[in-house]
Amino acid sequence: MANTERKTSKRTNSRSQTSSVSANKPARTSRKKAPSSRPKKTLSSRAERLKNRSNEDVSANKTKGQKDSSPVKGKKEKTELSSPNFVETDKVKQLVTRMTPYLKAGYPLHLTGPTGVGKTSMARHLAAQFDRPVMLLHGNHELDNVDLLGGISGYTSDKLIDNFVRQVYKKQEEVKEKWSPGRLVEAVEKGYTLIYDEFSRSSPETNNLFLSVLEEGVLPLYGTKQKQSYIPVHKDFRVIFTSNPEEYAGVFETQDALLDRMITIEMQQDRETERSILRERGNILAKEADLILKNVSKIRKACENEDKHGPSLRASLMIAKICKNSEIDISQKDPQFIRVCKDVLSSHVMKCLDVKSMEETENWLEKELA
Ligand SMILES: Nc1ncnc2c1ncn2[C@@H]1O[C@H](COP(=O)(O)OP(=O)(O)OP(=O)(O)O)[C@@H](O)[C@H]1O
Ligand SMILES: [Mg+2]
Repeated sequence: MANTERKTSKRTNSRSQTSSVSANKPARTSRKKAPSSRPKKTLSSRAERLKNRSNEDVSANKTKGQKDSSPVKGKKEKTELSSPNFVETDKVKQLVTRMTPYLKAGYPLHLTGPTGVGKTSMARHLAAQFDRPVMLLHGNHELDNVDLLGGISGYTSDKLIDNFVRQVYKKQEEVKEKWSPGRLVEAVEKGYTLIYDEFSRSSPETNNLFLSVLEEGVLPLYGTKQKQSYIPVHKDFRVIFTSNPEEYAGVFETQDALLDRMITIEMQQDRETERSILRERGNILAKEADLILKNVSKIRKACENEDKHGPSLRASLMIAKICKNSEIDISQKDPQFIRVCKDVLSSHVMKCLDVKSMEETENWLEKELA
């Protein structure tokens, strides 16, 4: 014990010595000397350091299980998200102009509609307009409060062994839980733009967290054993939700209270928009785009007659890309083109028309695409 005390007093002495040295020097002299001994700090270098630090913050926050959330700061993310492939037709521009004020006013936007209509692409494009980091969150039935709020990611332990006097042995150990904040905590605290894609694939219990985020501007930290009971929502925090209609497989019914807090816009297929996207993305001629759309539309119509959702723009883009890559002539006379169309569209025929065998599907497509 005496030894420990000795040790402590020694440390105290050395600390007081250091402070007395600086205290003995005239304050003005030391202040004047400091800048000349270090590289000159300019405003721009300070801004750069701050920028670097914030970039480090974001990457440091990438913890286990945050693979797809990885927000990247600044312009890089902006360019990646707004995708050079995004096609802004007049209809798309109108939609962007209609929805931007809602987000600017801080209201959550909800894009709904059938698969392949362009909800995620639009959400990413809208999010990239704001000069804030963007976080992507994908809804799924396993997403829970631990993913969103955080949880115990391990333990830290401090061990102190005091055996300074041989006869005395003292061991002190302290184990603390290590808490890693969840994705929503990070987005809410730092004011990111959150794209919660396919949010209705997560359970309503998980999505309940958004009720107070969207209305009261606080994120409650239920069951996290944190001292704080909630986190205030950053003024720049924005959310764009996307979802498929409720009749889709694996989709939960959304609670009215959540729908009541967001502005829901239904996105629909539009032939002219599809044509422009197909032409630009597929790098094909107008007549080639028309031919692909004609074939896809036949199957789509047949599906709609059965009250089912047929092939989307995705199928048209697939056909265009495959043909372009393999230099297949986009012409009804080219058997290779017809083959590609059949392969891309056959699963839709089987799903929608209750056709049992592949052979039957082939025959049906043969007649339709003739
Ligand atoms: N405006 C656009 N410009 C360029 N490509 C687009 C545009 N809109 C949609 N696409 C393309 O169309 C395809 C379907 O779009 P997207 O994935 O956004 O649809 P979605 O509605 O989110 O579908 P799902 O409900 O299946 O998730 C993608 O390949 C996407 O790149
Ligand atoms: Mg999507």
